[in-house]
Amino acid sequence: MRILGLSAPVFRILAICCLISFTSIYVSRSVLFGPSIPKASGLRVPFSFSGPIIEPPEVSAGDRPRVLVTGGAGFIGSHTVVELIGAGYAVTILDNLVNSSPESVARVRKLVDAPEAISFVRGDVRDEGVLSRVLSSARHVAIIHFAALKAVGESISRPLDYYENNLGGLTTVLAAAKAYSIKQIVFSSSATVYGNAQPPFTEATTVGMGITNPYGQTKYIAEIILKDFNLANPSIAIACLRYFNPVGAHASGSIGEDPQGIPNNIMPLCVPTLHDTPIQEFPAHLTPVFAPPPRSVQRVAVGKYPKLTVHGSDYDTPDGTAQRDYIHVVDLAKGHVKAIKFLSKRVAAGVGGTEVVNLGTGSAVSVLELVKAFEKASGKTIPYTLGPRRPGDVPAVWADPAKANTLLGWVAEKNIDDMAADSWRWVSNNPEGYATTQQ
Ligand code: UD1
Repeated sequence: MRILGLSAPVFRILAICCLISFTSIYVSRSVLFGPSIPKASGLRVPFSFSGPIIEPPEVSAGDRPRVLVTGGAGFIGSHTVVELIGAGYAVTILDNLVNSSPESVARVRKLVDAPEAISFVRGDVRDEGVLSRVLSSARHVAIIHFAALKAVGESISRPLDYYENNLGGLTTVLAAAKAYSIKQIVFSSSATVYGNAQPPFTEATTVGMGITNPYGQTKYIAEIILKDFNLANPSIAIACLRYFNPVGAHASGSIGEDPQGIPNNIMPLCVPTLHDTPIQEFPAHLTPVFAPPPRSVQRVAVGKYPKLTVHGSDYDTPDGTAQRDYIHVVDLAKGHVKAIKFLSKRVAAGVGGTEVVNLGTGSAVSVLELVKAFEKASGKTIPYTLGPRRPGDVPAVWADPAKANTLLGWVAEKNIDDMAADSWRWVSNNPEGYATTQQ
């Protein structure tokens, strides 16, 4: 018998040779570069990025299980790295530094007892090549995915950047987790997914109704993506953590929140009003008018003492101002370590699946109560005026944190006075954020 003009034995030999060479090309490619991460979508908005910087992989981290922390140089990420190292993990930080500073990594290294267990890679989570290089450099048991854009106001003016970054980043990370058989994933979600639902929010409260901005939508859609991913990959264990309002700083005063550009949130706005530093008047077209923190770049222009505008004093709350569930960032960071431990037990038992968990204190604090806590912590008066409601704001938000307690064994330990005292220590030690030279 002849196949394609060749005798059967010759054809068989040729076929075997082809199979061997294809297999060896694939195996050597995998050995050299790790498995390829399939692209989640064909169309990508290009991102501007100056290229990855990969540190020599695998510094001597001993037997510590290694966790990839995307966005690990940021506010919540940096505090989580401190807690992970304290709990015996090694960490690879992957961060493009778009809203953070390498100084935060340097300071985290000074804070922990095993700085050699931290590797830092400057890179973008949407870059499959960087993820491949990172994940093939060392075995990672888990990924905590923080890296995302988070300025609510900016998300309204740049929606596509938010969808591209936050959702493109997530799909790339999930594809990488699958390609490298990483079975534990923690995702940074937000109480913003509850939209205009009635508090207290349990994990069973309806989500997705009344979300007022693209940032919030990206968190809601991300949760749907995670669910679908998990259905297709049921052996992976996922914790989707819904944060309430993270504030505070590490008790050392050496790491904290240092937002670039215009902060939206109350804490970075509240704290700088305590400084006696004149700052640049904010461009009037950016409404509502926020007072930016006293960063050196902003000091150049005219002096104006900032004042906090309390957005709304006619809400149906005890003092008329809106209530939120503020949570200390160190409590939040500890919640991530608990989540990783929970997931590793699940994976060891051969169980996958997604758990959605609220990380909040369960108490509602009003804007004026927050201002009072700051005055107490700083010994200074915070100048404020009562203004109109901020569009898109809801009157009150607080968590029912019972599931975090029963499932993860986690409970928030710090109160609003701790949050104010630690924020004040951070900002008074570092009036220029991470640009401040440490004594
Ligand atoms: C915001 C986002 C939410 C995000 C969360 C945490 C909106 C609608 N929601 O929530 O998606 O997950 O941050 O990052 O923006 N306030 C003032 N004056 C100010 C700034 C804030 O009174 O100058 C008030 C607000 O009206 C609100 C409270 O302080 O009542 C907290 O505000 P903020 O820190 O921006 O958080 P949220 O609005 O809860």
